[in-house]
Amino acid sequence: MKIIAPSILSADFSRLGDEVRAVETAGADWIHIDVMDGHFVPNITVGPFIVEAVRKVTSLPLDVHLMIENASRYVADFVKAGAHTISVHAETGFHLDRVLHQIRELGAKPAVALNPATPISQIENVLGLVDMVLVMTVNPGFGGQKFIPYCKAKIKALRGMIDQAGLKTLIEVDGGVTIDNIGELSRLGADLFVAGSAIFGSPDYGKTIAEMKKKIHAA
Ligand code: DX5
Ligand code: ZN
Repeated sequence: MKIIAPSILSADFSRLGDEVRAVETAGADWIHIDVMDGHFVPNITVGPFIVEAVRKVTSLPLDVHLMIENASRYVADFVKAGAHTISVHAETGFHLDRVLHQIRELGAKPAVALNPATPISQIENVLGLVDMVLVMTVNPGFGGQKFIPYCKAKIKALRGMIDQAGLKTLIEVDGGVTIDNIGELSRLGADLFVAGSAIFGSPDYGKTIAEMKKKIHAA
């Protein structure tokens, strides 16, 4: 199954509840929440408190993308707040194995995220521990950036690596996803598509998500 996950980073935060309800009505499958600490990335966003607030207005799975140092210290709070999946960046610490186990033990789905420049070989050993790999297709930190083309080869190679290992691991693409490139990303092997500005910046969320789904399924 292919999944569209609007990123609330591009939503109007003064009307966050309405925005989340609007994308749910518009056909969103998951809600993507970007957590930034001003250390791992040059921006600061939200914490467990906002995850908990979003949890109250939707029944969709909450896909929490941690762009923070010391993820291990915070994962319990995010699970408690209602996270379904928690992505931790492979670049953020020495104890990736430990934090991925920790997330599963807490009852959420562990995922590992990769910056554009990080090779997929870095996660070879933990592939069997995660439900999903998040491939960043822009440098993390901000919405509305341009898709980095060399990431396409990475998605394809990762698909091959997962299939060869006989795993069911999902591939999520995050950054610069639009109606124009989503079909190709699906053909390359992506299963989940995060889109912030392409959805929240469009005049009709329902029309945009329907168009994206059409492109994914035609792929
Ligand atoms: C960037 C975030 C993305 C961001 C994507 O660091 O991880 O989830 O919201 O925004 P768009 O879709 O506008 O590139
Ligand atoms: Zn994200």
